[in-house]
Amino acid sequence: MDETKPETGAVAAAPDDDWQLMDALDPASAEFPARAKFGDEGIVIFRNGPGYFGVQRTCPHQGASMMTAVLQGNGSLLRCTRHSFVFRTANGDPVNCPGFRLKMYAVKEEGGRLFVRESPPPAE
Ligand code: FES
Repeated sequence: MDETKPETGAVAAAPDDDWQLMDALDPASAEFPARAKFGDEGIVIFRNGPGYFGVQRTCPHQGASMMTAVLQGNGSLLRCTRHSFVFRTANGDPVNCPGFRLKMYAVKEEGGRLFVRESPPPAE
């Protein structure tokens, strides 16, 4: 098991799988959405009911910050506030913006800590 933290201090390897510990983000005290780093990638983590999910930091349309995106449809949709492009939180698929897909990250909470991994792209 590798307990070594990378120089950023934001991410450390989780044991035995590809989940990465978000040790700079305490789910008990953090406000969501929250900025985080997954490796070198900036991401935004949303709380969605009892769970979480992550997305790329900027909108795939024209790069607006996803920190201001709004959950809709009981958490099934995420709307970028700049031009109201809407994406499915289940897989990043576009709703009203064909050709644009949001990169998604799975997020789980274990032992009071958050772990993140890339979500596989949806099947075409
Ligand atoms: S930048 Fe997000 S919808 Fe245009």
